[in-house]
Amino acid sequence: MSTADYFQKLYQQPDPFHYRSRWYEARKRALTLACLPRLRYASAWELGCSNGVLTAALAARCDALLGTDISAEALAEAAISTQAWPGVTLQRADHPGDWPPGRFDLIVVSEVGYYLDTTALALMARQLHASLADDGLLLACHWRHPFDEARTTTPQVHRALSATLREAFTYQDEDLLLQGWSTQPISVAQQEGLR
Ligand SMILES: C[S@@+](CC[C@H](N)C(=O)[O-])C[C@H]1O[C@@H](n2cnc3c(N)ncnc32)[C@H](O)[C@@H]1O
Repeated sequence: MSTADYFQKLYQQPDPFHYRSRWYEARKRALTLACLPRLRYASAWELGCSNGVLTAALAARCDALLGTDISAEALAEAAISTQAWPGVTLQRADHPGDWPPGRFDLIVVSEVGYYLDTTALALMARQLHASLADDGLLLACHWRHPFDEARTTTPQVHRALSATLREAFTYQDEDLLLQGWSTQPISVAQQEGLR
């Protein structure tokens, strides 16, 4: 079954990953938001935005936010989740073949990298680096356990995404790996004039 067919079937339910109801997901979103070094981002992009629950949380910190997903059904739900946020734009895209123009000061790859095989992942990583603004942050968060639909592993995904970038932060527990990378050093203390 293709990725598009798999997700089309899955999104017959409005919230198949239980983003709206599971503490695991709410906690992970809070961790993701807490790790963002800046209070605000001018132009952000979330790949694989699903039904838009994380997208809506990110929107509160972004002037403009693009959410892309392979599933039209997920995007219809994402439109409902983000209706209070006029800065959000939603687009159907099958990455890495489909790719938006422009550069972003925040790119979020949350629970999507391992649906790509090694070739597509390598291409996506190269394109992501080109789409990252000079002062931008690339954030990735992935489930650490194997599952049937995964074509690559979380360490493979994070290794590919981190290439040529410097680590800004890492959080890991039994279940998830959350990392951020940038081209320049990022110090929140320096941003705030503390050093
Ligand atoms: C597990 S959800 C992640 C949702 C959200 N980013 C989060 O972490 O809360 C993964 C999403 O990625 C989308 N997806 C998978 N492969 C994709 C691809 N090649 N291009 C675009 N979207 C894709 C799926 O349709 C699905 O909605």
